[in-house]
Amino acid sequence: MGCGMIARYAHLPCIKNTCGLELAAIYDPNPEHLRAAQEQFHVPQAFTDEAAFFASGLDAVVVTSPAPFHLHNVREAARHGLHVLCEKPLAMNDADIQQMIDLMADAKLMLFTGFCYRFSPVSMQIREMVRQGVIGEVRSQRLIYIWNLHGRYETTWTGERIESPRRVGRMLEGGPMVDCGVHQIDLARWWTGSEVVRQQAAGAWVENYEAPDHMYLHLDHESGAHTMVEMSFSYSHTASEPINHFSYHIIGTDGVIRYDRDGWHFEVRTPHGTTFYPGHDEKNFGGMYYAFAEALETGFTGDMPTGYDGLVATRIARQATESVIANRLLSPV
Ligand SMILES: NC(=O)c1ccc[n+]([C@@H]2O[C@H](COP(=O)([O-])OP(=O)(O)OC[C@H]3O[C@@H](n4cnc5c(N)ncnc54)[C@H](O)[C@@H]3O)[C@@H](O)[C@H]2O)c1
Repeated sequence: MGCGMIARYAHLPCIKNTCGLELAAIYDPNPEHLRAAQEQFHVPQAFTDEAAFFASGLDAVVVTSPAPFHLHNVREAARHGLHVLCEKPLAMNDADIQQMIDLMADAKLMLFTGFCYRFSPVSMQIREMVRQGVIGEVRSQRLIYIWNLHGRYETTWTGERIESPRRVGRMLEGGPMVDCGVHQIDLARWWTGSEVVRQQAAGAWVENYEAPDHMYLHLDHESGAHTMVEMSFSYSHTASEPINHFSYHIIGTDGVIRYDRDGWHFEVRTPHGTTFYPGHDEKNFGGMYYAFAEALETGFTGDMPTGYDGLVATRIARQATESVIANRLLSPV
């Protein structure tokens, strides 16, 4: 449900390429988007009519519509007895996400959140190393993603320079912590296996949206570990040659794990020496679909992020963003 950018870039090809899954039908209220996706992926059935889509013989639904429509689409899937994998952020507020979780649980169906970062070989390996105590006990994590969200401006086909509509949409939906930071918050919980018991955030405004476009989030875990997440959508966003920075640092009592996405540099330093591992992209939709297919077949969640994981990460991100907005200094001191 939803044949836009992320569906065409990641979900549709992965559904087609995953053993055990069959791309039966697609739905999008926009006929142009629908047709383009149908042609690109040779989908047998394509609908702009929701009822016809749900009557087309489905076992599960993937929701890749914009976030404000996720609740409606999940409600309809639950009503039709279909398991769901839903893109992040699950919904626009906690109450809506809780409603999604309850609807799916009442219908005895599985609801998963599309936290595809979990399935990067880098992330899977970090989780395994943390579990095995390779760096001792985790005390501190730094997860940083500062980038330009594809730039502030776009040029239309008539040559007009406009504010990027995609950027405007993401900023109005909550900004970088809600849109991207939820992945990092999920990783912080998943790697440590420890819930967040306290949080504090700060932010900065490079542009003038309600939400800050550059944010710092500090999380204290039950285990005593601390996580810092830094997210930005305005880092070099007007530069002719923009640059990104994406990294993980996991600091333990007996070593560190370091990952720099942009140089694909992944290493572990312990008293036994330094080991270099192959780097990978931070996302892995293919791995997520492999786990999704397995969950559908077995009924066991496995490593798939649940609706609850989606709720916790989104709640933390939204509360952080709201607290920063509430504490904004309206005029510099
Ligand atoms: N996991 C990731 O790394 C990642 C990356 C990008 C986007 N996303 C998420 O994926 C979702 C979609 O993002 P996008 O960038 O593809 O957006 P998009 O705007 O490119 O595409 C959304 C599509 O949904 C369609 N749509 C509109 N209303 C709909 C409805 N009621 N039901 C079904 N479809 C509807 C639109 O016509 C459009 O084709 C968002 O929740 C976004 O946060 C996730």
